[in-house]
Amino acid sequence: MENLQIEKNIEKAKEALNLAEAVLITAGAGMGVDSGLPDFRGKEGFWRAYPYAKKLGLSFQELANPKWFKADPYLAWAFYGHRLNLYRNTQPHKGFYLLRDFVRKKGDNYFIFTSNVDGQFQKACFDQNKIVEIHGSIHYLQCIKPCSNDIWSADSIDIEVDMENFRAKDPLPKCVNCGDIARPNILMFGDWSWISDRTESQEFRLNLWLNRNEDKNIVIIEIGAGEAIPTVRWFGERIAKEYNGTLIRINPRDYTVPSNIKAIPIALGGLEAIKKLLE
Ligand SMILES: NC(=O)c1ccc[n+]([C@@H]2O[C@H](COP(=O)([O-])OP(=O)(O)OC[C@H]3O[C@@H](n4cnc5c(N)ncnc54)[C@H](O)[C@@H]3O)[C@@H](O)[C@H]2O)c1
Ligand SMILES: [Zn+2]
Repeated sequence: MENLQIEKNIEKAKEALNLAEAVLITAGAGMGVDSGLPDFRGKEGFWRAYPYAKKLGLSFQELANPKWFKADPYLAWAFYGHRLNLYRNTQPHKGFYLLRDFVRKKGDNYFIFTSNVDGQFQKACFDQNKIVEIHGSIHYLQCIKPCSNDIWSADSIDIEVDMENFRAKDPLPKCVNCGDIARPNILMFGDWSWISDRTESQEFRLNLWLNRNEDKNIVIIEIGAGEAIPTVRWFGERIAKEYNGTLIRINPRDYTVPSNIKAIPIALGGLEAIKKLLE
């Protein structure tokens, strides 16, 4: 996308944001990139972030599979323990706070829909009752069996990971009910045991919000949502269509938009685009 086109689209997006009465923020892994977090774009992207997975020949789809918690829990917890520590130690970039100030000006009439499991929106003080974490959260745990539908906070657990050998160290997190291994309450690939109750309550609240805003001018701000698992992209596109809203798609690479909805692509990184739009 040429610079001139980007500038034009920024102006169009600013107008849309001015007129917005309800704001839906949708985000994928690209939202965290400017905070220093890796996205998992493509096999190579994933292997850059996890060189040991390359050594094992495991793609993201293969490693992010609940079977490892049974077959090799030390390997499974190396991956998720490392991510838990990384997300805990990461501070949300300024774009999160610019978005938060913006929605405040709109009377806090907003909702967030993200495939990120990192809890960065909560960390940036967005209202936790206005967030849908469609793939769950790394900050909650559940039983691998699972022996019940309970999930519980991961805040009290600490996992040390030997990154050289990609092994978590003892003790591994245990189920609070049966003592078996615990796993993150994240939707993995080929996952039949994810406990979805928490995400379902979040979706229930989102649907109430959408119903309340049926007649409002909804603007969707999408940041860093990839094409490999397009849940977030499709959701934003669907809402734009059904509610006659405007989708602002921020993505340095995957910025193409469908022609049958009102959509404004912005081919920039998340932080830079948000600054241009809101600062
Ligand atoms: N932080 C996290 O929680 C996290 C991180 C990686 C993967 N995941 C999980 O993996 C899956 C991956 O899906 P995905 O589509 O979110 O990620 P993805 O890695 O497939 O795609 C990332 C997207 O972000 C874009 N991007 C790269 N740099 C950017 C920047 N600076 N600003 C804005 N956008 C940028 C890329 O072009 C790409 O389209 C999801 O299911 C998610 O649950 C989560
Ligand atoms: Zn259990």
